[in-house]
Amino acid sequence: MNHFISVDQLTNEQIYQLLESATKCQSNEIKIPNQLFVANLFFEPSTRTKMSFSVAERKLGLEVLDFQPETSSLTKGESLYDTVKTFESIGANAVVIRHKADNWVEELEGFSIPIINAGAGTREHPTQCMLDLLTIYQEFDKFDNLNIVMVGDIKHSRVARSNANTLRKLGANVYLSAAPGYEDESLPFPYITLDEAVEFCDVVMMLRIQHERHVKKHETSKYLERFGLTKERERRMLRNAIILHPAPINRGVEMDTELVECSRSRIFKQMHNGVYMRMAILMYVLEEWGIINENLVKEC
Ligand code: CP
Repeated sequence: MNHFISVDQLTNEQIYQLLESATKCQSNEIKIPNQLFVANLFFEPSTRTKMSFSVAERKLGLEVLDFQPETSSLTKGESLYDTVKTFESIGANAVVIRHKADNWVEELEGFSIPIINAGAGTREHPTQCMLDLLTIYQEFDKFDNLNIVMVGDIKHSRVARSNANTLRKLGANVYLSAAPGYEDESLPFPYITLDEAVEFCDVVMMLRIQHERHVKKHETSKYLERFGLTKERERRMLRNAIILHPAPINRGVEMDTELVECSRSRIFKQMHNGVYMRMAILMYVLEEWGIINENLVKEC
């Protein structure tokens, strides 16, 4: 049985099933009848992912075990492995983990409960990718031949890594756009300028400058004008093109603050979709591991 670590582990069919399941969660009340505990282990700050997992779990009728690293035995030197082992021992049926290390997953072999990746360093953010896919699919009803550009701090972005490969697998044409020093040459996608991208892309996915992962602080006073989404660039976008951003947003840096809530922006829609996609992922994982039976899940 697989933990939910990367979107790469899903077939296209499984991705479409998750999109369908998230859509169903949006329109129906779905309850898991058994008493099941899910632990949200966030070792790195989060607002959206942590809180939307909590809402998703409560909507499904799951018991949420909240965890604050600063008041946990982590402060006494307990390892990630022993923390997860503790939750497994006290009866957690699944754990959701965010951690700043790229490779924390490799420390966690041999567990008898499923682990869901809620963000691994600069490497992967599969649940964000899935909610982004849902948002794009709601808009265009397809991925095939869509032109999608990811713009910003590609080098430090786990969102870019998860999204780029998956969108290509689904048939989209993926482009990257980055200021000098923010490129990641290990990603095999063409780089274009944002001025080029706005003329033909259906989706402009802005990414945050990840100051917390930079060794040296970067100057950003001219960033918006040179590399960001200004109102002038937004005016040149295709009529039906949309703007995404996983958030949090450096308003006025990667995009003009007025564009955050403009008619093209689906940024708050992404957050809304996050709850339903995380419900779908929790059900998928619990079913895969034989913890719940699809036939016993109640649709009200
Ligand atoms: N998009 C995202 O992962 O946001 P948080 O860091 O607030 O969870």
